[in-house]
Amino acid sequence: MQILRTVAELRTRVRGWKADGRQVGVVPTMGALHEGHLSLVRAAKRGCDRVIVTVFVNPTQFNNPEDLAKYPRTEAADAALLAEEGVDVLFAPGPDEVYPAGFASQVIVNGVSAPLEGERRPGHFEGVATVVTKLFGMTQADRAYFGQKDWQQLQVVKRLVADLNISVEVVGCETIREPDGLAMSSRNVRLDPLSRAQAPALHRILQKTAQALRGGAEVAPVLAQAVADLRLAGFSDVDYLELRTAAMLEPATSVAQPARLLVAATIGDVRLIDNIPV
Ligand code: PAJ
Repeated sequence: MQILRTVAELRTRVRGWKADGRQVGVVPTMGALHEGHLSLVRAAKRGCDRVIVTVFVNPTQFNNPEDLAKYPRTEAADAALLAEEGVDVLFAPGPDEVYPAGFASQVIVNGVSAPLEGERRPGHFEGVATVVTKLFGMTQADRAYFGQKDWQQLQVVKRLVADLNISVEVVGCETIREPDGLAMSSRNVRLDPLSRAQAPALHRILQKTAQALRGGAEVAPVLAQAVADLRLAGFSDVDYLELRTAAMLEPATSVAQPARLLVAATIGDVRLIDNIPV
């Protein structure tokens, strides 16, 4: 596995692959890799001839400087994991390579990025959409792999690819969970032991709620009960727990169309997000 840090080197490498007719896959990440990320890498390995994993802690998508400072950085361990998976290139640019002096552009995706995370984290999806668009331009990938763990992000990326005619196929992959149901996340390492023990309630309550909705229960009271259950389970703040249409993320008042339950809640001082289909 090669570790590349400049766009120029990456382009040279990819040009060679493309000249040989190879299909290129990319897995964009911010590092601190876990089994969730590795499941995307394995999907890319199955679907493409050559695989690039990008590791870049993108400052522009952190609305909170403290969150950026606290974000785990584990490049040596990440590189070892990726080499073991048979990744061809780890692209790990520095901030100046991605945002050189004079950088002035931004990708704004209206609609799908407005509610939920977009509302609670101003600027977050602008940062994500801009860096993902840049990563597609840098890697020239044929396919890009994203996790359903970040459901709204996946919809934002699909939207921008369609809107901007970017020739990449976006592949959404299943959320990988710990045996107790907690969705894997780089932030989980910050959970203290009590919060870690309580955190699986998030998925359990989502499942119970989805089941009730599928059974025909009325939406508003079931969601109110779920919020109460989360508080009882130890969550201090429930930012949102909502039923939304799966692709556009518009409020859903029934499960007649494909719908998704999405939640953001804080336990200890760690904000967790999760979602499941209904
Ligand atoms: P990051 O949080 O590192 O996640 C990288 C990719 O891994 C995302 O597509 C995310 O949805 C996926 N992922 C995370 N946890 C997962 C899990 N438990 N199961 C399956 N997939 C999981 O998301 C980002 O980075 C950034 O916003 C990025 C897209 C790289 C842009 O900076």
